[in-house]
Amino acid sequence: MPDTVFTDVRRFASIDSTNRYLLDEARAGAPAGVVAVADHQTAGRGRLGRTWEAPAGANLLLSVLLRPGLAPDQRHLATSAVALAAVDAVDALCAPAGPGAGVGVKWPNDLVARDGRKVAGILAEADLASTAPGSPDPVVVGIGLNVNWPASDDDLPPELRGVAGSLRQMVGAEVDREALLAALLAALGPRVGALATGAGRARLAADLRARCVTLGAPVRVDLADGSFTGTATDVTDEGHLVVDAGGVTRTVVAGDVIHVRPAG
Ligand code: BTN
Repeated sequence: MPDTVFTDVRRFASIDSTNRYLLDEARAGAPAGVVAVADHQTAGRGRLGRTWEAPAGANLLLSVLLRPGLAPDQRHLATSAVALAAVDAVDALCAPAGPGAGVGVKWPNDLVARDGRKVAGILAEADLASTAPGSPDPVVVGIGLNVNWPASDDDLPPELRGVAGSLRQMVGAEVDREALLAALLAALGPRVGALATGAGRARLAADLRARCVTLGAPVRVDLADGSFTGTATDVTDEGHLVVDAGGVTRTVVAGDVIHVRPAG
């Protein structure tokens, strides 16, 4: 199967939410590969029903429509493919700024700087009721990547200082948003294409392990029906997190997780 190409890029000066837009397009039968990019969102969606806000023209706000045809227990890999494409793009654009300029994946859905600040959030939304006959289930994966905002902690509300950051803060200079978008779109083809084969999915999982800052860390996992603590030891080939909870191995599925926080 050829890689999905991400050349149908629809740009918006302002829109409520690029995820909402592509979910509606998916319901109307749009094919995999459509990309929506906004300068500004008036109702950007975050995880757990939160909003995602960024000033106009500063950051990358984009969603991609995928139809990966994955088994339910593998669906998180679609999110991981987009996360890794963003990691690739940041590597390509920010590596010249030095070894401290890379980002890691905080399982399940965030990109973080070396100092632990969140620089991107990813929200996957599926509408399984809208599946067209013969067309695999649509999944819309949206990413909000803090490129040039915040410029400093002064831009953030007190509760986000030291918690959220941007590539600009990471590299100490403005980052070219268009070049980053081009690098991300180029990386999406092979990353999403890898979802189609067992070998490709194993490669994605291996790359996820290599960039996952959660591994080796003490974590507290909050699920709908309770919490537990332990040490994150692995990511499975399906993209699930393995936690050693006091000698008991527990496998955590992204869709069941409310929070994975540092323990202690
Ligand atoms: C999170 O809560 O960490 C996920 C945030 C995801 C935000 C992005 S911005 C582009 C896309 N459109 C949305 O409405 N949300 C996602």
